Formats: sequence, C-alpha cells, structure tokens
Amino acid sequence: MKIIIAKNEHEFDQKAAWLIIGQMLKKKDSVIGLSTGQTTKNMHRIVSEIYHANPFPTQEIRIFNVDELTNLPRTYAGSCYAMIKTQICDTLHIPEENFIMPPTMSEDFELECRKFEEALLRAGGADLQMLGIGWNGHIGINQPGTPFESTTWVSPMDPVFEARVRKETRVDETYPLGGLTLGIKNIMQIKKIVLIAKGKHKAEIIRQAVLGPVTTDIPASVLQLHPNCEVLLDAEAASRL
Ligand code: GLP
Repeated sequence: MKIIIAKNEHEFDQKAAWLIIGQMLKKKDSVIGLSTGQTTKNMHRIVSEIYHANPFPTQEIRIFNVDELTNLPRTYAGSCYAMIKTQICDTLHIPEENFIMPPTMSEDFELECRKFEEALLRAGGADLQMLGIGWNGHIGINQPGTPFESTTWVSPMDPVFEARVRKETRVDETYPLGGLTLGIKNIMQIKKIVLIAKGKHKAEIIRQAVLGPVTTDIPASVLQLHPNCEVLLDAEAASRL
C-alpha cells in the first residue's frame, strides 16, 4: 500500500479532491465511487470549486456511492443519493442517468443489490473508489465480521452509526434503518482504491487497518491485499503509523 500523508486537513482535502479530478481528466467516461461523511465533505466542495474555475467535459462521467441508507426517503438530506447529488453531480453537471445509485425504498432489496452490481458492471466496472473508513474499521457499511467474499447486501447498522444517522437525518425512531452496501468482494474488484481518513480519532483504526493482521475483525485490513490501493491521510490520522 502506498501511504500519502498530508501535513494538515487542508492539504488532505486538496490532495483528495485532485485525485478525483485527475481520474476525471485521465478518462472522460470514468466510473468513480465516492463515500459520504465528514471525511469527504470538504473534498467534494473542492472538486466543485476546481471544476468551476476550470470547467471540463463531465457528460460521460459515471458516479456512484459505495453505500446507501435504506428505508428513508431519498429526499432526506442524509441519504447518500441526496448528498452526492448536491455535493458532486449537480455542481459538476453530471447527467442524472450517469448517477448509478440503488433506491432507498424497495419491496425487494435483494433484487436492488443485484441491479446495482449489474449497472456498475455494464458501465465497465469502477475505475476509482474514494473509500472512507468507519471508527471500527468498516468500509461501506460492511461491519466487523463481514466475510471477505460478501457481495452487495443490506447490512444492519451498528448502533453508534444508526444513532448518528438518526440525529443527522432526524428519521423517526419507528423507521427500521439499514444500509445497502457494496460487499467486500465488490470493493476488492475496483481497479483503484484510495482509503481516506483524517483526524486523531481515526489514528488507531488506521494503524490496525494498515499495519495489523488482515482480519474480518477490521474490514479495512483486507485492502492490504488489493493490488492498487493508496492510503491518503492527514498527519493526525497517520500519527500512530
Ligand atoms: C459511514 C459511511 C461510510 C463512511 C464512514 C466514515 O459508515 N457509510 O461510507 O466512509 O461512515 O464516515 P466519516 O467520514 O464521517 O467518518
């Protein structure tokens, strides 16, 4: 794994944004996977700023998010669809049909999972995945214990994450929540992965994911086996390496 350490959060956001822009410029019909959350907010804003300052063709770019919440309307500001749409797709004028996302509501999520995978395959497979990491090492919504051969599925949420989603989205307590996520096998098939983390609170899990044993207890540790995975950190997230 190639490890890139930015000296501070600002430099991290800039470097991460330029990795996305670089992919878009290198291949005009790139298929790019994103992640939502605190780690990616600024980098998405910077991608939009770079695009505004120097517009380039984006009509053929395909975007998806590694995961999506289930059982809440897409219109909730906290759905991954809403976040990626407003943070990236709208600002870069990426056509709606090039935004590959499973629905948040469905009678048959098993079918939606297969359709999501098939849509990505039809697009030629993902070229780049900007991949966040959870406090417990989860990637997408693949929590500790998820088998490495898992394919796209609806995962239960861990209670900490669920509390955060409910707080951020103000979804009623009576709604069951879950998360449709690319499985670990699907993530490992992506051509290039950039694992991204910033802040002191990610330092220990980054140490375990990057330097510890490859184990399903720390889902992100599987990335040590990926042939083309970079790890982009700010100095705080890298402080235990
Ligand atoms: C959630 C998301 C992930 C994201 C992770 C980290 O689990 N489903 O895609 O990578 O949170 O979030 P944050 O960047 O806010 O720490």
